[in-house]
Amino acid sequence: MLLEGKKGLVLGVANKRSIAWAIAQALAREGAELAFTYQGDRLKESVEELAGTLAQKSPILPCDVTKDEEIKSLFNALGQAFGALHVLVHCIAFAPKEELEGRTVDTSRNGFSIAQDVSAYSLLALAKGAEPLMEKEGGSIIALTYLGAEKVVPNYNVMGMAKASLESGIRYLAYDLGPKNIRVNGISAGPVNTLAARGISGFTDMLAHHRDKAPLKRNVEISEIGDAALFLASSLSSGITGEVIHVDCGYSIVGM
Ligand SMILES: NC(=O)c1ccc[n+]([C@@H]2O[C@H](COP(=O)([O-])OP(=O)(O)OC[C@H]3O[C@@H](n4cnc5c(N)ncnc54)[C@H](O)[C@@H]3O)[C@@H](O)[C@H]2O)c1
Repeated sequence: MLLEGKKGLVLGVANKRSIAWAIAQALAREGAELAFTYQGDRLKESVEELAGTLAQKSPILPCDVTKDEEIKSLFNALGQAFGALHVLVHCIAFAPKEELEGRTVDTSRNGFSIAQDVSAYSLLALAKGAEPLMEKEGGSIIALTYLGAEKVVPNYNVMGMAKASLESGIRYLAYDLGPKNIRVNGISAGPVNTLAARGISGFTDMLAHHRDKAPLKRNVEISEIGDAALFLASSLSSGITGEVIHVDCGYSIVGM
């Protein structure tokens, strides 16, 4: 029970295929008490249904990360429900579909700012909201990223730049929050067939390419991402902050 007595917030569950849900299951398995958020009423029922399968009852709160007032209310409610917070999991990204195909040079100003706002700025805003609850007993913030931040991945385009910004944000946040014993790390996951991933043009080819080229000769299992997040959430990783760990069957080390 690595997370017994710990309280966590998981953002980004859309359905049972969501990486956030795999992470939630791993954290709950080790004893964490979890709260969840949903983006808009459309996803409320799905999140309630999944959270209802966990042993401990979870607060379920609305949070569209583009709305400052929803972030504020989230942490007010969480403060009342939990008192302290030990883990925050950020599994949120979005770019308009038309930006995830064709040439990056055609990216619109609006598409660029939406991708940055939802996928990168949100980590800063959430970390700021979590800080007063986390500084009490220390904590761990974990964000999901992808290789497209470091290398060109065709069609990932504007999201690659948003993830680069997110990864840089991880390091700056780790620097700011380290003195309060709040660690901030990223998991760069190999491709997984989720709702968000299906928005990327040619995603099925991407899955096959990773499977062929990765040293482990397979795609990553979603539960392996959950277990890596568990490691980062727990005291097993107490000396690690500002890091991005690749959980991609080794794909990112291969040059050819
Ligand atoms: N699936 C992959 O191949 C893969 C690989 C590496 C990293 N990731 C990252 O993992 C994270 C989770 O994505 P996923 O693949 O599980 O897909 P998903 O569709 O299950 O989750 C994406 C989540 O983002 C949320 N979201 C989007 N806009 C939001 C907003 N304005 N406010 C609040 N929430 C918002 C959605 O509601 C959804 O729950 C993302 O950051 C994604 O970039 C995914």
